[in-house]
Amino acid sequence: MKILITGGAGFIGSHVVRLFVNKYPDYQIFNLDKLTYAGNLANLRDIEKKPNYTFLKGDIVDQAYIQQIFQTYGFDGIIHLAAESHVDRSILNPLEFVKTNVLGTTNLLNVARHHWKENYDNKLFYHISTDEVYGSLGAEGLFSETTAYDPHSPYSASKASSDHFVRAYYDTFGLPVVISNCSNNYGPYQFPEKLLPLFIHNIKNNKPLPVYGKGENVRDWLYVEDHAKAIDTIFHKGKNGETYNIGGLNEWQNIRLIELMCSIMDRKLEQTEGTAAQLITFVKDRAGHDLRYAIDASKIKNELGWEPSLNFETGLELTIDWYLENTAWLENVTSGEYQKYYETQYTKR
Ligand code: NAD
Ligand code: TYD
Repeated sequence: MKILITGGAGFIGSHVVRLFVNKYPDYQIFNLDKLTYAGNLANLRDIEKKPNYTFLKGDIVDQAYIQQIFQTYGFDGIIHLAAESHVDRSILNPLEFVKTNVLGTTNLLNVARHHWKENYDNKLFYHISTDEVYGSLGAEGLFSETTAYDPHSPYSASKASSDHFVRAYYDTFGLPVVISNCSNNYGPYQFPEKLLPLFIHNIKNNKPLPVYGKGENVRDWLYVEDHAKAIDTIFHKGKNGETYNIGGLNEWQNIRLIELMCSIMDRKLEQTEGTAAQLITFVKDRAGHDLRYAIDASKIKNELGWEPSLNFETGLELTIDWYLENTAWLENVTSGEYQKYYETQYTKR
């Protein structure tokens, strides 16, 4: 089986590539990535020399290039993760999100459809999406697979749009597809613009922790390796045309999570309890900031037998240890262009 994984040099993609390359030595795994600021081949050093792994540098928006790699390698399955993924960046530059997330996804769907010529046996297009397409919850309730789409940010609107295109290709052309919508991931190799790695990095460097609004927003956190295992399960056992929600069953109000992180960081850095928390700085809220995300993950549990395996306290300790031990990785990705972006976009909020 030849599997194309897009966005494999990013955060979640690198965990999916690693899992598939190690677990399925008989599969040929192709990692297609443009290597934007978020893509980093250092995320895959441990598997890059494996005989069943090939890296392809390219842009999912580039039709001629995508056609060419389909012709050359003849993929059977696609696990599509490549995307612009950060809500704050989508507020600054929505069109980049439309380009990669909407046009790029539709380009892949289109080339797959033409390449497979409706000979769909043992073929699958698997789109990795987000729970943010469902919009925002109040204090009660959970997102299920039948919750109506109601995206608010340019990021979630672009992901919702790409989900709709995936379903349109299933309904119109019979393309075999599956979609999963997952909650917030955390763990090693996450780019330090997202909450957890950003705050770990800032605490280490004694920089302010910019908490949006009052820190009342709630997210449902899932360890990234558990997400990769869910993707493996859905790729092999998911039903054609279906959607599966993936969640951590692990809701945290931002400020409570930040306080917990601060206290773990004080212990790890051997500083007085309360030192890191002094860096907490309440800043202007994110525009259109969704209040609460929480997932009902009973369908994937009941139908496919997946549930999160790691408890949050263990996952958080592992994650913090990883960032403290991998300072070279962290320094590398936070230098250069990113540092300029961070200084202009964040510290002036
Ligand atoms: P990420 O930003 O860390 O990685 C994205 C990867 O895609 C990078 O390697 C980047 O170089 C690549 N890429 C971007 N544009 C490309 C293009 N035009 N052509 C080819 N490659 C391109 O993102 P992530 O957090 O790993 O998210 C991966 C996927 O999972 C995304 O589709 C995202 O919407 C979805 N998702 C993320 C989360 C989360 O908590 N991070 C939760 C649910 C779903
Ligand atoms: P983030 O990691 O950007 O994920 P998402 O917006 O996709 O859920 O943010 C997680 C939560 O943390 C979200 O409610 C916004 C908040 N947040 C801050 O308060 N400060 C920050 O600097 C960042 C990056 C996020």
